[in-house]
Amino acid sequence: MNKVLVSLLLTLGITGMAHAAGDAAAGQGKAAMCGACHGADGNSPAPNFPKLAGQGERYLLKQMHDIKAGNRQVLEMTGLLTNVSDQDLADIAAYFASQKMSVGAADPKLVARGEELFRGGKMTEGMPACTGCHSPNGAGNAAAGFPQIGGQHAQYVAKQLTDFREGNRTNDGDTLVMRSIAAKLSNKDIAAVSSYIQGLH
Ligand code: HEC
Ligand code: HEC
Repeated sequence: MNKVLVSLLLTLGITGMAHAAGDAAAGQGKAAMCGACHGADGNSPAPNFPKLAGQGERYLLKQMHDIKAGNRQVLEMTGLLTNVSDQDLADIAAYFASQKMSVGAADPKLVARGEELFRGGKMTEGMPACTGCHSPNGAGNAAAGFPQIGGQHAQYVAKQLTDFREGNRTNDGDTLVMRSIAAKLSNKDIAAVSSYIQGLH
């Protein structure tokens, strides 16, 4: 592991988040109102709506709390979680986590550059590879709260990286882990790595 990654991991820490245990079976019914956009099993058909299927439970729950609290702006979900209890959020997170994320395909023209960035980072600029936190196959690290990105819609991934870079998504913690990484990515880099990620599994 390279030095930049080690220091990022150390400062990021693995902060424990106390939460009620989710019940996937109970969550299935409660997730019905999410299916219109995210797909009934969490595999959304639209490229701008993220797939939630198979996503890490801890990451899902954190995003739901962040969206509910307004720490992450999702206009499409305005008010949607206001009256959803913590237990219901935990159950919904457990349900989507228990599903399997489908895989897409990468643009063959972008694979080489995308793979280079994903696996090698940009060493000259001190940007670590994505593999260290999101794992070589993009599955992430569920226990640490590092999201699965392998198989995720390229359009959604590209929007997140751009949002982190422009400061429109700021819920990556005090270490600014994703904001500092995205700051090193050009629009071309983002297009390549996002396409590569869509086909990764
Ligand atoms: C009207 C469409 C819509 C509905 C309904 C909806 N969402 Fe979303 N959701 C979105 C969009 C769009 C985003 C991504 C916004 C962005 O680009 O950052 C999102 C993002 C998320 C994320 C973050 C995913 C990630 O990978 O970071 C979670 C978690 C989530 N939604 C959960 C839910 C849950 C749970 C429900 C049901 C209670 C729900 N959503 C209902 C549109 C919707
Ligand atoms: C040091 C660890 C680390 C490295 C290295 C890293 N990430 Fe992340 N990434 C994270 C964490 C932690 C989050 C979740 C932040 C949050 O809680 O909102 C995240 C979130 C993301 C998201 C948003 C996922 C979603 O569903 O909304 C994308 C996309 C992403 N990273 C892409 C990348 C890419 C591409 C690279 C390499 C260029 C990379 N990451 C390198 C830790 C890392």
